[in-house]
Amino acid sequence: MVAVLLVLALISISGATYINVLNDNFQDLSNWMVNVMPGVNSGNNEWEYYTDSPNNVYITKVNGQNALILKALQQNYQGYNYTSGKVTSVRPWGPYGFFNVKAIVPKGNGLWPAIWLLPPNGQSIYGGWAACGEIDIMETICTGTAGYSTLHFGGEWPNQVSAPSNNQYPFTADWNNAHWYGVDWQPTYMNFWYDAQVVNGVITGGKLINSIPSSAWYATNTNGQRYPGNAPFNVPFSIILNVAVGGSWPCSVSGCCSNLAVPAQMTVFNVQVWEVAQSEDQL
Ligand SMILES: *[C@@H]1O[C@H](CO)[C@@H](O)[C@H](O)[C@H]1NC(C)=O
Repeated sequence: MVAVLLVLALISISGATYINVLNDNFQDLSNWMVNVMPGVNSGNNEWEYYTDSPNNVYITKVNGQNALILKALQQNYQGYNYTSGKVTSVRPWGPYGFFNVKAIVPKGNGLWPAIWLLPPNGQSIYGGWAACGEIDIMETICTGTAGYSTLHFGGEWPNQVSAPSNNQYPFTADWNNAHWYGVDWQPTYMNFWYDAQVVNGVITGGKLINSIPSSAWYATNTNGQRYPGNAPFNVPFSIILNVAVGGSWPCSVSGCCSNLAVPAQMTVFNVQVWEVAQSEDQL
């Protein structure tokens, strides 16, 4: 009888029950590919070379917890003046789910750390960037305190568009300590979150940064025609974590790309993916 009542209680909150499908505390790097790539291939004129050196990408203990370190260094390497770290999830996740990353994000001249999602290799059935879509959970540049959460979609370059028009956090983030950076990516909306967590299957706490209805996004083919359905955000995306040095965006800010704040590191403690459980009455 008690069991039956518990099942009924679960059904009554069905539809918003999130189930954990990835909870990476960085015991190892088995969920990640370490990307080796010159900045010229970033599409952003970045100044670093991403290497798989343990100087740039490694696991260590921070305050007793395992953490992934992505470290930008001043170092001459393959014609570049900086090296840094970038990892991509071995498997893509979704479509849909609550993606939440706990990290300490570096601030300073020339730094462009990011926590984001992109289809594998920046390609999907809808084409290349940005027809394939891009979900930027967290980006920040230079010494400014602003954080940004952005969707890129539309056509392939140069016909990309982005949303929302005001993609800046509506509050001043604390960049000195670890925080959760998340997106709840669902068929009808994309909600960006700061310091939210899932408790008892429900997203709780935190600050809502932006809520974007699915009617705002689309993908177009090379003739400019829109694909049907929820394109481009209805296919699996990879999780990407990186610390860019220089690049088009930060170096467009006066003074940002001189006296670079390296060495600098992003410290990632936890990466989680949660999926919405199908409710009993939908089965
Ligand atoms: C490295 O620095 C030199 C001197 O400032 C500059 O000329 C060169 O373009 C830089 N290399 C890269 C790949 O950014």
